[in-house]
Formats: sequence, C-alpha cells, structure tokens
Amino acid sequence: MEGEPTTRVWDLPTRVFHWTLAALVLFSFVSAKIGGAWTEWHFRSGYTILALLVFRVLWGFAGSRYARFSAFVRSPGAVWRYLHAPDSPLAGHSPLAALSVLAMLAALLLQGSAGLFANDAIANEGPLARLVSSAASDRLTTVHRWGEKVLIALVALHLAAVAYQEWRKGRRLVWPMITGDARIAAPPARDDAGMRLRGAVLFALAAALVAFVVTR
Ligand code: HEM
Ligand code: HEM
Repeated sequence: MEGEPTTRVWDLPTRVFHWTLAALVLFSFVSAKIGGAWTEWHFRSGYTILALLVFRVLWGFAGSRYARFSAFVRSPGAVWRYLHAPDSPLAGHSPLAALSVLAMLAALLLQGSAGLFANDAIANEGPLARLVSSAASDRLTTVHRWGEKVLIALVALHLAAVAYQEWRKGRRLVWPMITGDARIAAPPARDDAGMRLRGAVLFALAAALVAFVVTR
C-alpha cells in the first residue's frame, strides 16, 4: 500500500534461493531438450536444484520470520477464510500462495530425485541408476518425464498468480522478492549478517549432503 512504511520481508538467502532456482529450472529444461553434450550440465543443474531444495527445507525451520513454514503453512480452514477475504493486506506468502509454493517444492524434489535414477536408453543415466533394476530405472524415467508436465503446469500457475496479483490486485510481489522490502506495516524479518551467514552454512550443508549422495 502506498504510504505504508517499508518492511524487510524476504531475507537475502530466500531471495537468492528463489532466483537461482528459477534460473536453474529453466536451464534444466533447455539442457534436457538439447541433450548431447549438454546432458552433463543437465545433471549438474539438477544437483544444484536438489541442494537448493534441501536448503529451503532447512530454511523453513531456521530462516527468518516469513520464510519459516510456520509462517505460511496454514490449515485448510485458513485457506478457505483467505478465499473469502482475499484483500486483507499480509506480509509473506498468503495461505493460497503457500499451497503453490509447497507444490512446487515437492514436485521439484520428486523430479530431481527421480532424475538420479533415470536413464535416456542410450548413453546417460543418473548416478544412482545402477543401484536399482533397469525396470525400476525405466519407471523412474517415466516419472521424470511426467514431472516435466507437472512442473510446467505449476510454474505457469505460479506466474499467472503473480501476474494477477501485480496487475489486477495492485499488490507488488516481484519487487519484494528482488529487494527484500515490501510496503506493508508488519514486523520485519531478520536479514542481518548473522542470518545470511546462517543461510550460507545451511546451503553448504545441503550441498555436501547432495554431493555425498550423488557420488555413491
Ligand atoms: C521456474 C521458475 C520459477 C520457480 C520454480 C519458482 C518457484 C518459487 C518458489 C518455490 C517460491 C517460494 C519462495 C520461498 O518461500 O522460498 C516462489 C515465490 C515467488 N516467486 Fe517464483 N518461481 C519461478 C519463477 C518466478 C518468476 C519468473 C517470477 C517473477 C517474474 C517469480 C515471482 C515470485 C514471487 C513474487 C514470489 C513470492 C510470492 C509471494 O509473495 O507469496 N517467480 N517462487
Ligand atoms: C530437478 C530438476 C530437473 C528438471 C526440471 C529436469 C527436467 C528434465 C526434462 C524436461 C527431461 C526430458 C527431456 C526430454 O526427453 O524431452 C529430462 C530428462 C532427463 N533427465 Fe532431468 N531434470 C531434472 C533433474 C535431473 C537430475 C538430477 C538428473 C540426474 C542426475 C536428471 C537426469 C535426466 C535424464 C537421464 C534424462 C533423460 C531421460 C529420457 O530420456 O527421457 N534430471 N529432465
């Protein structure tokens, strides 16, 4: 709202998470379609996405105010009430947006995990494919292929919802995801050096976990 004070809503780790995730998901699609020598980069991009997702789950417990799951994961009743009073100003994800956030995180986790076991029937397979039977690898490849469609649908819905809020409802959501600040009267999220260091440490942990798993 115009005239409202500026409040830090998204800490830096959440913002870096978001834009890196968006860029890498796009890159994963492109690299998978080109194939060939790009497959190697498809894999690396997928590992990084998995590390980002593990980080985001940790951040859902250890992040700042609005990044925590406890701030945006709401009961079906709360989603219902929001649907009936959608114009009340709020900081962070709305109860409805939270559903789309959780669906995207879950679908990407499944997509990345299935990829680890997938094969292209020619020369490439995920690093864990040899740990399962070829029938199981084929089934997970099918999951990975269907995941493409699910992800396209979820991301399209996400972009449509953001565009609707921006252009029809006059709610600025994209700018806060870039700068961290929203014009809303609400308690600020912590985003100091300590918080950012905590984010970096948790991401390093997440990356180490993924590296450990994919080098099995
Ligand atoms: C493949 C592309 C994308 C994916 C997978 C994606 C995924 C996500 C996820 C997981 C969140 C939750 C953030 C968190 O709490 O950590 C989110 C929030 C958000 N995304 Fe995206 N995103 C994508 C592209 C974009 C683009 C292109 C834009 C803008 C032009 C955008 C704008 C936003 C905004 C504004 C929010 C915050 C929504 C709110 O205030 O509730 N996203 N996105
Ligand atoms: C989470 C992010 C990921 C996304 C969005 C994604 C997306 C895709 C898409 C769209 C395709 C289909 C290409 C086509 O045949 O048209 C594909 C194929 C493939 N991906 Fe991924 N992928 C991800 C992660 C991974 C990971 C982590 C691995 C393994 C390390 C992997 C391994 C493969 C393999 C082996 C194929 C070829 C399967 C086939 O021939 O259909 N992907 N991926």
